Amino acid sequence: MDYNEKMENVSILGAAGKMGSGIVLLTIVEMADLSLKAENKSKTYVLNAVDISQKALSGLMKYINAQVVKIAEKKIVQLRKIYEDRADLIENSDIINEYVMDVMNILRPVTTLESTYESNLIFEAASENPDLKVKLFSQINQNSTKKPWFLTNTSSIPIHELDAKANLEGRIIGFHFYNPPAVQKLVEIINAKTTVADLSEFALMYAKNLRKVVVPSNDFAGFIGNGHFMRDAIYGMDQAVKLAKDIPFVEAVYMINKVTQDFMVRPMGIFQLIDYVGVDVCQYIMKVMNPHVKDEEIHHNLLDMYIDMGVRGGQNSDGSQKDGFLKYEKGKVTAIYNPEVKEYVAIDTFAAACDDRLGKLASSHITWKSAVSNQKTRLDVLRTYFNELKEMNTVGAALAVNYLKRSKEIGLKLVADNVALNTDDVNTVLLTGFFHAYGPVNDFI
Ligand SMILES: NC(=O)c1ccc[n+]([C@@H]2O[C@H](COP(=O)([O-])OP(=O)(O)OC[C@H]3O[C@@H](n4cnc5c(N)ncnc54)[C@H](O)[C@@H]3O)[C@@H](O)[C@H]2O)c1
Repeated sequence: MDYNEKMENVSILGAAGKMGSGIVLLTIVEMADLSLKAENKSKTYVLNAVDISQKALSGLMKYINAQVVKIAEKKIVQLRKIYEDRADLIENSDIINEYVMDVMNILRPVTTLESTYESNLIFEAASENPDLKVKLFSQINQNSTKKPWFLTNTSSIPIHELDAKANLEGRIIGFHFYNPPAVQKLVEIINAKTTVADLSEFALMYAKNLRKVVVPSNDFAGFIGNGHFMRDAIYGMDQAVKLAKDIPFVEAVYMINKVTQDFMVRPMGIFQLIDYVGVDVCQYIMKVMNPHVKDEEIHHNLLDMYIDMGVRGGQNSDGSQKDGFLKYEKGKVTAIYNPEVKEYVAIDTFAAACDDRLGKLASSHITWKSAVSNQKTRLDVLRTYFNELKEMNTVGAALAVNYLKRSKEIGLKLVADNVALNTDDVNTVLLTGFFHAYGPVNDFI
């Protein structure tokens, strides 16, 4: 396998999407850096950014340009060395402009598949729709002049299924970036049983060059990340439904969201995380996972109900959060959706009563932010906190302890079901991909 040769002609499908745009950025910088090596100067590097939306592709070009300027500014010393034989590049701005031009020269925004037929590598980040992915792979595979390798960013579809349906003969691997790909360190790599060895080797090398943390996942729908998150979310929604037998639904959602964030020392509450990922995306991932999971139901009525009411979450194109279970104003949660009247209810009207019901946080409580910013003391501080939490006789503590137990159980089941190789891998995914302060499989609980 010649890494350099493979990187000469690459196509990215769904290039203008949330994930695709980040993958374009990472890949084009990697390609540009290869192209600027002395031994590669005579070669032509091409990255086809394929998307159905012309408008989104023009947004992509602007995004890539702006990001590459920032990257060039950061690595100006390295670039000065790369361009040292160019006497005409004097000022930093000359070098930055030259680098941006070299990068942008590689990029070809396209709305049809024809140009991908010349590519050695196809990164796929089109919408999470198995039929769409199979259709794209089949068409490229049938028409390609190469025998291209396919790296799919699917969050949930088993890789062997895509392989068999598109007849790729093992030239496919799951390369699951986290959102946003340019920032998130974690990549789950999913080898199907059929994945060819050279492609596995390439995927590891590409991840290493991108300085990613790699966790291997076995080829089960949802893999490790969504395998944990979807079950964790179902548990959270179940708990809210249970509480809502005695209190208004919005208060139940508020309480579970607060327990999962503050009491459990997580970066955000479970309902906020569902909104962030997208209520519709969560529903879709569960739909893909469910037929592959035999002993439990990966589905929740609440998601169906909210989507029927047009409540979807996700982000606006400027990155701001759309309303979902929760309503957001300037990034802050201000209200909670009441499906009975199809309106948001301001948190101010009930938060104090809910906080009283949950009870105080333990005296040794620390925020997620301070836990993750003190890596040396993190585990000791958390142990002290969780020990106190277990001794507390409050509604909030009981909900949190049971939730921690469920989260641990999910982590252990991922290993028992052979999705993850070991509990360290489960913990790494939650620590790195979800920014948790501690892994779900721990001795705190
Ligand atoms: N968003 C996340 O948090 C996340 C995280 C990890 C993995 N993923 C996976 O990445 C993939 C993309 O997700 P996303 O969130 O970026 O979705 P998105 O909706 O933001 O982007 C999908 C892109 O695919 C394009 N597209 C649709 N049909 C196409 C076609 N026929 N040819 C070319 N492009 C087409 C759309 O125009 C859009 O730009 C999915 O498989 C998803 O499961 C998403």
